Amino acid sequence: MAIPVPVDVVIMAAGKGTRMKSSLPKVLHRLGGKALLAHVIECAASVSARKAVIITGHGAETVEAACTRFTQATPLSDSKLDLKFARQEPQLGTGHAVQQALPLLADDGVTLVLSGDVPLTEVATLQALLAQCDGQRLALLTLNMADPTGYGRIVRAGAESSAQVRAIVEHKDASDAQREIREIYSGIMAVPTRLLRSWLGRLDNKNAQKEYYLTDIVKFAVADGIAVVAHQILDAAQVAGVNSPVQLAELERVYQLRRATALMEQGVRLADPARFDVRGALGCGQDVEIDVNCLFEGQVRLADGVRIGANCVIANCQIAAGAVIHPFTHIDGEKLGVQVGEGALVGPFARLRPGAQLGAEVHIGNFVEVKNATLAKGAKANHLAYLGDATVGERVNYGAGSITANYDGANKHRTVIEADVHIGSNCVLVAPVTIGEGSTVGAGSTITKNTAPGTLSVARGKQVSLSDWKRPAKKSR
Ligand code: UD1
Ligand code: CA
Repeated sequence: MAIPVPVDVVIMAAGKGTRMKSSLPKVLHRLGGKALLAHVIECAASVSARKAVIITGHGAETVEAACTRFTQATPLSDSKLDLKFARQEPQLGTGHAVQQALPLLADDGVTLVLSGDVPLTEVATLQALLAQCDGQRLALLTLNMADPTGYGRIVRAGAESSAQVRAIVEHKDASDAQREIREIYSGIMAVPTRLLRSWLGRLDNKNAQKEYYLTDIVKFAVADGIAVVAHQILDAAQVAGVNSPVQLAELERVYQLRRATALMEQGVRLADPARFDVRGALGCGQDVEIDVNCLFEGQVRLADGVRIGANCVIANCQIAAGAVIHPFTHIDGEKLGVQVGEGALVGPFARLRPGAQLGAEVHIGNFVEVKNATLAKGAKANHLAYLGDATVGERVNYGAGSITANYDGANKHRTVIEADVHIGSNCVLVAPVTIGEGSTVGAGSTITKNTAPGTLSVARGKQVSLSDWKRPAKKSR
């Protein structure tokens, strides 16, 4: 569907959000790991808006700085969205809020009004609303609510749902009869900008709240003979705003269920979509299985046949085909990323930190931590170990309780373990150090010098067994 005229979006975000009881401005609270306002800005980008004007007030500087940061961090899907801010101080109502944007809006466009605290509106809904507006009508997004208390009511010329829209009456200004109306204004509208400009100039604040109501433009449209259309939707979550931590948590679940459903439709098998969270981008191949209570953050890619056990936290990581991540594993690649090779086995209770690069068929077992280390094909560290700043060759076996001592208190140094090395249990490899190909390090050794290929190195006190020694005994009285 071609949108005939340019779209400019006004995002209202000046309100205080008192009920969040937080020092953080409401629109910066996170849903799916991303600020509420970022979701709305992405919506604007997705309808190919030419400009988005964000109305700021409470916490304006914080909100503006955050917007600039997250649009830089995530370029908005190649859109050319021009982001602008308009301050509204004091806040005299939604009509007054949109008035602040007028100097930044051009008359050849349509203005789409959104709220910074309404994160789950679907792009298709906004496109349908814009189509209804069609550059010439006032289009309102509405829905029927079982309990419409507090909302602006859609007043029509007659009882039928097709009857002409005459006005929006705010709850506080509504008569008892009007309060019976179930159809409410969602807070989202699309309006030709030149008409909006003329109507906003006619607003007054003679109402119960002494506010300049954006919703009053409906009666001006009616008076001017401009068609007003209501685009009714059924899904309340799409227009639900966040006013409190409870509402934020409710919308978080709606959002997560949407993400889970989309993945399942692609074939991903989630043990329980209600116990699954994604905060970022999760790409999955075929036959991926994810057990309960897993959290994915940042950029995560799971290739074909990957299985994720219960209770894993996985961030910024690429997992190759057939790899298995056992329960309670924590992976966070942060900026460097983490790579898990084909058929690798990780966990349970493993920790992979930034720069961990596991080759094919690597095994990382319980209570093993890997940081900035490369493990070649078939290397194994199965129990209670630390590998930091290390290069580990193919088929190396790294014993239980062994560590790389990579930090001398000032600098980090590298440990190189060549192919086919066996490191016994409870060894300390003091970096910088190289363990030569095929060599063995005896259990309990502290290795400070390079070892030659094929050798056995033992660096620990010799065992002494005394035969003439008696265990102390308690004196009998
Ligand atoms: C508004 C509508 C009401 C609709 C409801 C849907 C008006 C007069 N009423 O009600 O018909 O049913 O939304 O949720 O528009 N804001 C500003 N500056 C202001 C006032 C508000 O930026 O001066 C922002 C708020 O931060 C919020 C949005 O505008 O993001 C809506 O304001 P809110 O007070 O929640 O709207 P209501 O008065 O509840
Ligand atoms: Ca209000």
